[in-house]
Amino acid sequence: MTNPITREALEPLLRTEWLGRNYETRSEVDSTNSLAARLGEAGAAHGLVVSAESQTKGRGRMRRVWHSPAGMNLYFSILLRPQWDLQACPPLSIAAGVAIAEAVAQFAATPELKWPNDVLCNGRKLAGVLVEATAQQRQIRQVVLGIGVNVNQSDFPAELEQRATSLYLMRGGAHLDRAAVLARLLQRLEFWIDQLALQHGGSVIERWTEFAPWLGTAVRVTHGNTTIAGTAIALESNGALRLRNEQGEEQLVHCGDASGVMGWAC
Ligand code: BTN
Repeated sequence: MTNPITREALEPLLRTEWLGRNYETRSEVDSTNSLAARLGEAGAAHGLVVSAESQTKGRGRMRRVWHSPAGMNLYFSILLRPQWDLQACPPLSIAAGVAIAEAVAQFAATPELKWPNDVLCNGRKLAGVLVEATAQQRQIRQVVLGIGVNVNQSDFPAELEQRATSLYLMRGGAHLDRAAVLARLLQRLEFWIDQLALQHGGSVIERWTEFAPWLGTAVRVTHGNTTIAGTAIALESNGALRLRNEQGEEQLVHCGDASGVMGWAC
């Protein structure tokens, strides 16, 4: 257990203009995504950050559970009320993956991005992103960007042991100040969210590609009961993965989980 990430701990480290200037933290919550959504429904403003020491119902993509033990990792959600054209830029989750990869690279890890937005180190999952939007009459009302980063966790339950890692493990057993990691993450997230707002989607895709050295290699993408195998070619501007399938045809894949035929498989 390390010090809780209080407002007093975070504020002096924050280098953002608008993100996290409004910050709430809880010792335990069902899910920070649910709490941020509730606060949003109650009128909270763009840029609110909600973090928790533990989650009782932390959730991941594809209805998976996000393991959220107390006091060692980062579980936080950002409330956004995007005024920009969401259709015209890469998905927020792609930009978030880039921001996390840049931030954790500063703390001794060499991250890779697995499509669409898992952050891996040494082939194991370090961080994940869950974006949930609420719309009314096809108009986006609010978006919650939820992020989990394994920071100081030294061991994982048996089912995650071979698939998960933490910054602590990547640093050979050195604890990190979670407030400092959160402040760095928020700074990179603000930068990349601003790039989306400015419709600079190309730079997001280019940067994402730099963290995806597996492009050009054989992958499998699984979605439900369907698996597509092929060579990964590129990330499209809408976040889709372009593959050359085993018949030699190019194909766009819009959702699923990618795994490398030779390497990572979280
Ligand atoms: C994934 O990789 O499947 C996404 C994981 C997202 C986990 C974070 S932890 C903070 C926020 N609250 C949640 O319930 N989920 C996200």
